[in-house]
Amino acid sequence: MEKTKKTIMVTGGAGFIGSHLVRHFVNKYPEYRIVNVDKLTYAGNLANLKDIEDKPNYKFVKADIVNAEEMQQLFDVYRFDGVIHLAAESHVDRSIANPNAFIYTNIVGTANLLNAARFHWKDNPEGKVFYHVSTDEVYGSLGETGFFTEETSYDPRSPYSASKASSDHLVRAYFHTFGLPVKISNCSNNYGSYQFPEKLIPLFINNIQHNKPLPVYGKGENIRDWLWVVDHVRAIDEIFHRGQTGETYNIGGNNEWKNIDLIRLMCSIMDRKLGRDAGTSEKLITYVKDRAGHDLRYAIDSSKLQKELGWKPSLQFEEGLEKTVDWYLENTEWLENVTSGDYKKYYEEQYVNR
Ligand code: NAD
Ligand code: TYD
Repeated sequence: MEKTKKTIMVTGGAGFIGSHLVRHFVNKYPEYRIVNVDKLTYAGNLANLKDIEDKPNYKFVKADIVNAEEMQQLFDVYRFDGVIHLAAESHVDRSIANPNAFIYTNIVGTANLLNAARFHWKDNPEGKVFYHVSTDEVYGSLGETGFFTEETSYDPRSPYSASKASSDHLVRAYFHTFGLPVKISNCSNNYGSYQFPEKLIPLFINNIQHNKPLPVYGKGENIRDWLWVVDHVRAIDEIFHRGQTGETYNIGGNNEWKNIDLIRLMCSIMDRKLGRDAGTSEKLITYVKDRAGHDLRYAIDSSKLQKELGWKPSLQFEEGLEKTVDWYLENTEWLENVTSGDYKKYYEEQYVNR
């Protein structure tokens, strides 16, 4: 996409990855107008964007992507040249407790955006981009060896990953059937600042700080491939501008960690930062009932992205994790704010029977 004056819709820009993406685009591309469309669910928080909210090339619109009419109207008003679609229900445990919210937002919401883009771009598709941000979880679960490539068959196993797989299929179908100029990326687990403390890393940092049990699902042997959120955003920037239309790119950290090893590393970093004796925080580890349908291992082969667009992760994991721990320890107000109210109810319901 040419870097002239463009108006870009970013959905889910008040969430974890979305807020990093909005910040990156607003600061790096003053010639773009970035319109952040977000419903502000429990996971969306405008405090994530305080530092850029007054920039002249940034605008926030509170809207629900499940509302088809509203999406059409936003296209009418702003005449978007591009869409970067991140809005989603994103937490696997919540998808087990309540799949319908995932079906509405992730599938119907994506279909509404595709329809609006198709309708508004049909006579003038030149230079337009519909970028769909997806997850490696659509590929299912790996055994002890092997990697997900862009050719790996889809095999989603949770309501979350099934809803994301469904949205990926719709995006590809709109490319093949209607010629909508789409791009898709499937990324591994992200970590960094502003992540809602229901996901493993911020949840455990918060619990360690407050001497609460660390609920490890099953035996802690599941493996995830962790990538710093800013490196994900850098990859999206490359693909959005230089990736091939109709193509999918896998994004990953080449950084696999067994949960229990990662948790022990977090405990030792936190002991050091909090001035506790070595081994203190590990005592909080509590093995609990496994997550239903818990995928054993995710690991991404990102060689297509590395070869075609020259992207690679910029940060070593140990350094990134230290930075992340520092951020949560320095931003206690942010953490307290998001863990008050509804969060307490969620936490009690999610962890009471484990
Ligand atoms: P998040 O849960 O932190 O944020 C989601 C955002 O979407 C929130 O701001 C929320 O308010 C908004 N939203 C939810 N429903 C909406 C609706 N109906 N209408 C408008 N806005 C709505 O999620 P995240 O971790 O930042 O993930 C963003 C995207 O990246 C998702 O599509 C997710 O599937 C994908 N992804 C996430 C990861 C990860 O590790 N977090 C990895 C790969 C891909
Ligand atoms: P999570 O951050 O929810 O990401 P995802 O399930 O999308 O990969 O979880 C990462 C891993 O940590 C996953 O294997 C589940 C595990 N986990 C726990 O052991 N305890 C917890 O309380 C949470 C939230 C996750």
